[in-house]
Amino acid sequence: MDKILIIGFMFLPTLQSLVYYIDEESGSNKFLGNIATDTNLEKLVNNSDDFKTIQYSFLTQGHPHSSKFKINETTSEIRTKENLDRETICEYSPSCVLSLQVSAKSTYGIFFETFDISVHLNDINDNTPYFPSSSVNLSVSEASLVGTKFTISSAIDKDSTKLFCDRLPDLTSRVSI
Ligand SMILES: *[C@@H]1O[C@H](CO)[C@@H](O)[C@H](O)[C@H]1NC(C)=O
Ligand SMILES: *[C@@H]1O[C@H](CO)[C@@H](O)[C@H](O)[C@H]1NC(C)=O
Ligand SMILES: *[C@@H]1O[C@H](CO)[C@@H](O)[C@H](O)[C@H]1NC(C)=O
Repeated sequence: MDKILIIGFMFLPTLQSLVYYIDEESGSNKFLGNIATDTNLEKLVNNSDDFKTIQYSFLTQGHPHSSKFKINETTSEIRTKENLDRETICEYSPSCVLSLQVSAKSTYGIFFETFDISVHLNDINDNTPYFPSSSVNLSVSEASLVGTKFTISSAIDKDSTKLFCDRLPDLTSRVSI
């Protein structure tokens, strides 16, 4: 599809992949980067008249996360369109990388380039661990020996892929009768 569109343009192989890091929960309109500046594109185009006519846009096909960002067509500045919550986008996943693709095309078709962009969404620990239930009922037989261990469900932390326990010293507790 995109290949059909670029026939007739003189185009260079993809030269750069960009990596950006952004904290989750930074709100909307958070600045991510500027493609032209970050890739030194003016030098690459080597024609200031043509450079000034370049228009930037997301290639959304196969990049569904594009809808969470906006790009200024003339300046190539990328900002968030919405508040990004890592736990909603990549729940329990140890890494959260959103892939975007941007095209830069000059009006006269002399220059055409695409850029692959990886946006790493940094975790800020915004979810306190919680226990599945606030209390547990244990049936303890009178015949139980002192020191018998009972298993209690561990805490769940959405910010972590691991289950952990922050209030109980161990996943088991000792009961004496
Ligand atoms: C850029 O353009 C100038 C003048 O048009 C030319 O002398 C130079 O070789 C070009 N540089 C590259 C890297 O194409
Ligand atoms: C893009 O940036 C230019 C220069 O800062 C600004 O004038 C223009 O309004 C911006 N376009 C959009 C759609 O925000
Ligand atoms: C524990 O038992 C009490 C009394 O039977 C009951 O009201 C409570 O809902 C039970 N809690 C759980 C977590 O099962």
